[in-house]
Amino acid sequence: MALLIDRIGELVTNDAGCCGRGHLTTLKDAAVVVEADTIVWVGRSKDAPGADHRVDADGRAVLPGFVDSHSHLVFAGDRASEFAARMAGEPYTGGGIRTTVAATRAASDERLREAAGRLRDEALRQGTTTIEIKSGYGLSVADEARSLRIARELTAETTFLGAHVVPPEYAARVDDYVSLVCGPMLHAATPYARWIDVFCETGAFDADHARAILTVGKAAGLGVRVHANQLGHGPGVQLAVELDAASADHCTHLTDRDVEALAGTWTVATLLPGAEFSTRSPYPDARRLLDAGATVALATDCNPGSSYTSSMAFCIALAVREMRMTPAEAVWAATAGGARALRRDDIGVIAPGRRADLIVLDAPSYLHLAYRPGVPLISAVVHNGVKL
Ligand code: NIG
Ligand code: FE
Repeated sequence: MALLIDRIGELVTNDAGCCGRGHLTTLKDAAVVVEADTIVWVGRSKDAPGADHRVDADGRAVLPGFVDSHSHLVFAGDRASEFAARMAGEPYTGGGIRTTVAATRAASDERLREAAGRLRDEALRQGTTTIEIKSGYGLSVADEARSLRIARELTAETTFLGAHVVPPEYAARVDDYVSLVCGPMLHAATPYARWIDVFCETGAFDADHARAILTVGKAAGLGVRVHANQLGHGPGVQLAVELDAASADHCTHLTDRDVEALAGTWTVATLLPGAEFSTRSPYPDARRLLDAGATVALATDCNPGSSYTSSMAFCIALAVREMRMTPAEAVWAATAGGARALRRDDIGVIAPGRRADLIVLDAPSYLHLAYRPGVPLISAVVHNGVKL
């Protein structure tokens, strides 16, 4: 059963070769044919082959589905009052993570599954066809394993973040907690996780602990990602590059050496402007990274503390308005950039052989994602070849 989407005013293809840093590419007056979960044909609308089903895009723009390469969807409760306190002047320190850990531990499996599923659906309706989901609000062997089990029901891109913070019962025994993470917790997490991540920051885990955890995770077959340089200058980015992490996430406080290191590797700098928005912090310097030649991805960081948004369109608008990314750079970073941050080449691109994950915009151009902030512009989503 083939599906034809034709009369596309502007098709974002991102198909400019497989190597190099990558940039946004488009095709005007285009059509796409999908069979099962795969794109089988891309070209001019007037040359399109017939198909069993047809969607007339009527001049609208079509994009690859968004790739949200950083989220924390498995949690219970919210922290709206912490947000209100921040807007009244309190700083964000990450201390509230423990509030969510307590609520998550107390929640039943059903409640956690239902809450995470709701957020995943919310993201999908807004065009996110691939999402990475981290654990990190369980912080015990059983609670991390069940968080990842639930995450795995929603995505293949699951990340073990047992080293999010040190839980209260280990407060005076950080070394013991690191041993727990590296041993029994990793063992319980591995069947459900593709990636391992550490919050490498003052108040969370230092470079030695982070290196130890990421190294055993890597030896167990997990890919590496790092929460790096969010709240201040620190060793996270250098560690990410040292360990060939797929991405260093946040990158809000970077030295020249950090920027150089990122520019010289395949470690993607994943920027999470929803976090700066919701913590009222200075945004990362995207221009400096892009101008140095680093690969940049955009993601939501969706979590109840620092960034409770599932909207990639909102992150694109922030990146353009507040971080001086061009609309083309921001849309590339939210699609192909996210794919690179997950080391995937089957998504983020519209070309034959790639996964049939597409967004139809209620607008003639991808430019409108930043130009019309806050407006729900996603008129249709095709996920794995199925129109939702
Ligand atoms: O990426 N910084 C660490 N972790 C999350 C925030 C988690 C929370 O505040 O609950 C982040 O911003
Ligand atoms: Fe995060």
